[in-house]
Amino acid sequence: MAFVVAIDGPAGAGKGTITKLVGEKLGLVNIDTGATFRCVALNMIQENIQIQEEEKIQKMLDKIQIEMYPDGKIFLNGKEVTHRIRENDVNRLVSPVSVLPVVRNKLLEVQRSIAEGKNVIMEGRDIGTVVFPNANVKIYLDATAEERARRRVLQNQEKGIECSYDEVLQGIKDRDKRDSTREIAPLKRADDAIYIDSTNLNINEVVDKIVEIIKNV
Ligand code: DC
Repeated sequence: MAFVVAIDGPAGAGKGTITKLVGEKLGLVNIDTGATFRCVALNMIQENIQIQEEEKIQKMLDKIQIEMYPDGKIFLNGKEVTHRIRENDVNRLVSPVSVLPVVRNKLLEVQRSIAEGKNVIMEGRDIGTVVFPNANVKIYLDATAEERARRRVLQNQEKGIECSYDEVLQGIKDRDKRDSTREIAPLKRADDAIYIDSTNLNINEVVDKIVEIIKNV
C-alpha cells in the first residue's frame, strides 16, 4: 500500500473542498468515493432499474466502468458524467443505493483499485473503517447539522437554487441517520481517527490543521 490519507465524515462537513486543497498542497491524488456511488445511481437511472431489482443491479455492476482522472473528471462507461452525477435525480437516489450490499461490495473493489500504487487522499464515509483500515492518516471531519445546513443553503444561493433552511436541515438529518445506521459500513469514526470539528473553523484553518497532521506522521 502506498501512502493513504482517509477523510471521513457526514454530508456537508466540507470533505470535498478540503480534500481537494490538501491533496493539491501535498501532491496526493484526490479520490472522491461518493462519486462512485453517484455513478452507480446514475447508471440505474439510465437503465431504468429500480432499487429492489437486485439481479438487474448485479448484472449492471458486472459491466460497470468508472474512471476518475487527476483533473477531477469522472467517466461512467466511457462517457463523461462529472456534472451529471451532481443533479437532483442522482442526489435523491444515491443514499438508498449506497445501502445495498451488492453495491458496496462492488465499489469496495473499485475504490481499492483506483487507489492502487498511488499516494492518495480519499474521502467518504467508511474509508478509515472499511476501505483502508490501515491508512497512514485518518481524519473524521464533522460539523453540527445546523452549520452544515447553513453552508448548503449558501452554496445553493450561489448557484441560484431556491431552498428553505428547514427543509435542507431535515434532509441532512435524514441522510445522517441513514448513513450511520445502515448495516454495512455505516458512517462512524474509526477508533484511531483524529476528530476535527469544523463548525467554527474556516476552510483554510481546517486545511492547515490537516496538512500539519499529515506532515507530522
Ligand atoms: O459524499 P457524497 O454526497 O457524494 O456521497 C453520496 C452518497 O454516497 C452519500 O449518501 C453516502 C454515500 N457514500 C457512502 O456510503 N460511502 C462512501 N465512502 C461515500 C459515499
